[in-house]
Amino acid sequence: MNKDETIALLNKDLEDEHGAIIQYLNHAYGMGEGEMACEVEAIARDEMRHLDWLAETIVGLGGTPSLKRGTMRMVGKTVPDWMRDDVSLEEDAIKQYQEHIKTIDDPKIKRLLKRILSDEESHRGSFEHFVGKAQREGAEDVRGTREDKVAKVLNWGVEHEYTVILQYLLHSYMTKNEEAKEELQDQAINEMQHLGWLAEELAGMKGSPRIEHTEVDKSTKTARMLQADINIEKEVAAEYDRAAKEIEDPDLKKLLLRIRDNEIYHIDVFSDLLKEEQD
Ligand SMILES: [Fe+2]
Ligand SMILES: [Fe+2]
Ligand SMILES: [Fe+2]
Repeated sequence: MNKDETIALLNKDLEDEHGAIIQYLNHAYGMGEGEMACEVEAIARDEMRHLDWLAETIVGLGGTPSLKRGTMRMVGKTVPDWMRDDVSLEEDAIKQYQEHIKTIDDPKIKRLLKRILSDEESHRGSFEHFVGKAQREGAEDVRGTREDKVAKVLNWGVEHEYTVILQYLLHSYMTKNEEAKEELQDQAINEMQHLGWLAEELAGMKGSPRIEHTEVDKSTKTARMLQADINIEKEVAAEYDRAAKEIEDPDLKKLLLRIRDNEIYHIDVFSDLLKEEQD
């Protein structure tokens, strides 16, 4: 198997990890607060680690990590059905990793995929357990159809945060500037927090988080990447600021201002990096 074929297989795995992350986050936010939601979110975090390892391996082979999202299984209407969908998604992943472990020759990559496979087997067991648990506890979808101005602001935020998470991760994988790489990863994690805060808030007020993203900057030169990242941060810092002023709920106002301040911090971090990159 040549390099390009290996990259293609790993990118397929990466896309499916991406799909799993979003499927599980949808389910976790839909369940509302509670132990099971936390456990599902923890599984989504495992998938984020897988995505990260796969992306680094792809870059190591000279490839570019794909930003496509793999197929999700989101047909269930009740929480136990969601958990069955998650079992199915893990089964898809297990089958695919087993095949890829067989077809890929590189021993280091084989080892990595085996490591991921063992996580997926454990996830399948957890989700099987959650099917029964959701039934026993009568877990229900807490989301509603709220679509007023507040709900729209929060969904705008969810969409923005998802977009920059993908953008900063891609930039962190593609840059050769080690300091920028580290900062981009750190800020991507901070954006994941933002997405979680906004989505949970929205689900808690009977809205329905839509985890979809807009255009991601695919620059390959570090200075270009940082400039794009600064531009988007400036736009959203202003938007969070504007939204915070309009919203009356004091806690929500505080949340939006906190996110705004984080975005301002990101502008400063990226601006310093850009200056150093240009020197
Ligand atoms: Fe998994
Ligand atoms: Fe953010
Ligand atoms: Fe930001």
